[in-house]
Amino acid sequence: MFYQTLERIITCDNIEEKFEMFYDMYSNLKDYDFASQKNPKVFEKPSYASFCKIVPPAKVPRRRGFDTPEKKAVLLHAIVHIEYSAIDLALDAAYRFRNLPKEYYYDWLEVAEDEIRHFKMMNDLLEKTGYKYGDFSVHNSLFEASLKTQDLLSRMAVIPRWYEANGLDANEKIINKLSRFNDSFANEVIEGLKIILKEEIPHVSKGDKWFKFECKNKNLDPVETYFKIIDNFFKDWKKKDLNVAARLKAGFTCKELKILNERVEC
Ligand SMILES: [Fe+2]
Ligand SMILES: [Fe+2]
Repeated sequence: MFYQTLERIITCDNIEEKFEMFYDMYSNLKDYDFASQKNPKVFEKPSYASFCKIVPPAKVPRRRGFDTPEKKAVLLHAIVHIEYSAIDLALDAAYRFRNLPKEYYYDWLEVAEDEIRHFKMMNDLLEKTGYKYGDFSVHNSLFEASLKTQDLLSRMAVIPRWYEANGLDANEKIINKLSRFNDSFANEVIEGLKIILKEEIPHVSKGDKWFKFECKNKNLDPVETYFKIIDNFFKDWKKKDLNVAARLKAGFTCKELKILNERVEC
């Protein structure tokens, strides 16, 4: 029942219904059995495909400036889309990998609950600009990354430990940019981003925990294994500004941060 329910929530494209189904399951978790003999399904398209136009990343509207309702909406729409994608990804982490300790499922459902709150918070701000989710085109890089990571080790390395960790870096940068605008709406967005930044650190550390759990199971060195997966997945990756404090809190070691960017001081 647990996995069937998750499947229905993940594939549901009616946002209100999706959240209702989630809260219903989340508040009755003790009634569910996480053991499973079945294999997970591979979902061919993301649930937002029915209400968002999907384009390649380079074709997504550029987020430049914050001085018109449209520019505000473009930035907020991008954040709203990341939060929405993160809901399905957290649920998919719980759905896809079977017969793990109970704590694993509780961890990712807790993340999904955070992502729903993040989505609602940023979506309320987006709607204040007069736009709504689906009004701009989006890319599906996160969904594609999830398709390519069908084992626990690479999923934990690529989604929480790469993409969500990148979010820690990006969030800080957006806060810095927005604080240059003398604009009460920008301040509201900054407040939301600060909540997200604080709550995203535990998401990355949950990824860190389960990545290391799997490394231990397979007798692998975590640092070596992480960069092997990342080098293979992203080929020519280059990292610039890192949110060192947030990444250290989330479980990255100084050694790893120096590999990501040799100029990092820690
Ligand atoms: Fe989030
Ligand atoms: Fe997250």
